[in-house]
Amino acid sequence: MNDRVIAIDGPAGSGKSTVARRVADALGWSYLDTGAMYRAVTVRVLALGLAPDDLESVARVAASCVLDVDDRVIIDGRDVSERLRDDDVNLAVSAVAANPGVRTAMVERQRAFARYQTRGTVVEGRDITTVVFPRAGLKVYLTASDEERARRRGDEDPTSVARRDAADRSRAASPLRQDVDARVVDTTDRTVEDVVEEIVTWAKTLS
Ligand code: CDP
Repeated sequence: MNDRVIAIDGPAGSGKSTVARRVADALGWSYLDTGAMYRAVTVRVLALGLAPDDLESVARVAASCVLDVDDRVIIDGRDVSERLRDDDVNLAVSAVAANPGVRTAMVERQRAFARYQTRGTVVEGRDITTVVFPRAGLKVYLTASDEERARRRGDEDPTSVARRDAADRSRAASPLRQDVDARVVDTTDRTVEDVVEEIVTWAKTLS
């Protein structure tokens, strides 16, 4: 099963979502955006009026919610796709994602998702190569210079991106780090097509 998983990690603005989606399209595989899962739980937590750092209540929401992450993101029957990148969500998502109970619930769903795909899955996030699929057939760590990453974030304030990056790298539960087996790809001066082509070439060597 793990041969049929391509795991991609990297910080905000490294190009993960765009690259992962296109690699999945090129191979005819499914694509899973795990950041959207943490963001959807955050939207739900805020809608319920819970404090993002209320460990128990937030973990309960993550464990019990009905979550569907596809072209649209639906949580507990509400389409939250347009809410995922709002400022309040950018601000609260780090606390939600640092909650060990939330991570356990999400990781379980991510592994189940991959298990049910008949072809294969391209999964991207912060802990995919290190924790969720440590035995993935192919592991990639995407990077880009700080300047370029800030530019790509567009609407999000650079200080907000930097704050999320610092929180993701320093948290106790599954911090973002470069896995020893991951192939590192610096996307700073490269086109999306070029990066996708390289990953697809590696993927073709998978059994
Ligand atoms: O698109 P961007 O890289 O800015 O963020 P994202 O992938 O939408 O993820 C949003 C937040 O969710 C990150 O800042 C992490 O705090 C968290 N996250 C995580 O902890 N683990 C993952 N596998 C994916 C996202």
